[in-house]
Amino acid sequence: MEVENLNEKLVALCAKRGIIFPSAEIYGGVAGFYDYGPVGVTLKNRIREFWRTEFIIKMEIIHEIESSILLPKIVWEASGHLEGFNDVLVECKKCHLRLRADHLIQDILNIVTDGKTLSELAEIIQTREIKCPNCKGELGAAQQFNLMFKTHIGPTEQSENEAFLRPETAQAMFLDFRRIQQTMRASLPFGIAQIGRSYRNEISPRNFLFRLREFEHLEIEFFIHPEKKNEVPDELWQQVHDLEVPVLSIALQEQKKDPMKLKGKDLIKEHIFSCKWLLFWTLKSYEWLLRVGLDPHKLRIRQHMLNERAHYAADCWDIEFKYSFGWKELQGIADRTDYDLKKHAEFSKKKFEIHLTEENVKVLPHVIEPSSGVERIMQALLESTYSEEFEVDDKTLLRTLFKFNSYIAPFQIAIFPLVSKDELPKVGREICDLLKNSKFLILYDDSGSIGRRYRRVDEIGIPFAITIDYDTLKDQTVTIRERDSMTQERFKIETLPAFFQKHLQFI
Ligand code: GAP
Repeated sequence: MEVENLNEKLVALCAKRGIIFPSAEIYGGVAGFYDYGPVGVTLKNRIREFWRTEFIIKMEIIHEIESSILLPKIVWEASGHLEGFNDVLVECKKCHLRLRADHLIQDILNIVTDGKTLSELAEIIQTREIKCPNCKGELGAAQQFNLMFKTHIGPTEQSENEAFLRPETAQAMFLDFRRIQQTMRASLPFGIAQIGRSYRNEISPRNFLFRLREFEHLEIEFFIHPEKKNEVPDELWQQVHDLEVPVLSIALQEQKKDPMKLKGKDLIKEHIFSCKWLLFWTLKSYEWLLRVGLDPHKLRIRQHMLNERAHYAADCWDIEFKYSFGWKELQGIADRTDYDLKKHAEFSKKKFEIHLTEENVKVLPHVIEPSSGVERIMQALLESTYSEEFEVDDKTLLRTLFKFNSYIAPFQIAIFPLVSKDELPKVGREICDLLKNSKFLILYDDSGSIGRRYRRVDEIGIPFAITIDYDTLKDQTVTIRERDSMTQERFKIETLPAFFQKHLQFI
């Protein structure tokens, strides 16, 4: 059942539990920036670690880097961001409110504006007589607004010292390409990956974690032989060939049809993707998102229409999630061809061709890029796992909870001495040590009513709670409460590590 006002409820619950809340909150906050409390950080870490495990540690041919966030102007000239990383802005002539033109039109006319140019947006605003939503004033001419944050490196503000906070981590993977390829002695195909902050001066940040000005990218630049774009090794293809996904190709969108459910092997047969590596990375990313715990009924794969594609992309697909505010991009998977390496070769006068010894040829690799943001994944996860349970009258709210799976949950086990006196906290601490030594993630809390403590751990999605009571002192048993079913059962303390080893899942 759909939860009403889900986004508002998530914002409120995350603030109440200190999970995620506005940055500089005591000064009223600042749009597009959020801070993470201990539970939020841990949840974010779990997602990062799960991504790192599946895409870097297990993949072997993907190499992780950590690069500078601030990079000089020439990088962004070469990449095309200085010229083209823009949104269209309109300003009210009366109250000077600045608005993103495509969002304004979408909100007022409820029409799709993806891929519309500046002049198309300006024409809609003029012909449909759209006014400022704040004061009904007249809107000025539409103009391009560059989304990068600009600053200067060093004490002088000269043009040659201009630098920009990166709007994507991707460019560093191209800048570092030669060094990583050589030092890791990598041959095609191989990837360079990065987890790190990116910055975009969004005109209208909104929808909680969805559109931020500071967020964290999970990106892979996967380098392939330009003539072997369909040669995915069997051991990788086997991982995804049977996965069935809802697909919305350009053709289906043009015919205004619903997505079609197809398996990886059918998608290859039907030539719906421009190459097999692009399909592989789309399916692999989709499958990972399912394992994070996203609602499978709210995921689909949509091909970019020709007018939507970024300047560098030969083909591009989005994995979309049906957020409480509509179907939106959660992750993009693009065929960037050799666009970026060519551009950096031109600007840096360096060479990026790889010598392939077996074939004795030099090739400039093409790139497939799966790119997502941790926060959009988090928002989709919060929306997928949020649940409300009511008393038998169906009206009184009994509890709210996040049904995180146990390898994503910020903590796996809560430990509650019933009261903070007599020997109960001491036993609680001993159990804490026992379980921490077995590498479980523990939250210890010995104050407040037990009912309230259960509500709290439900609201931060902890799968199990252990309660220590006076019987524990007599017979060395404790109660284990399971989050989703709320069932309670007694177990001997010595059996706890084995119990949780069996009932929890691990990354
Ligand atoms: N390197 C390619 C690239 O950055 P993108 O489609 O602009 O492509 C990729 O971004 C992903 O980054 C998106 O699918 C989304 O998950 C995340 N993302 C982009 N802009 C964001 C923003 N303003 N706030 C939060 N996440 C964002």
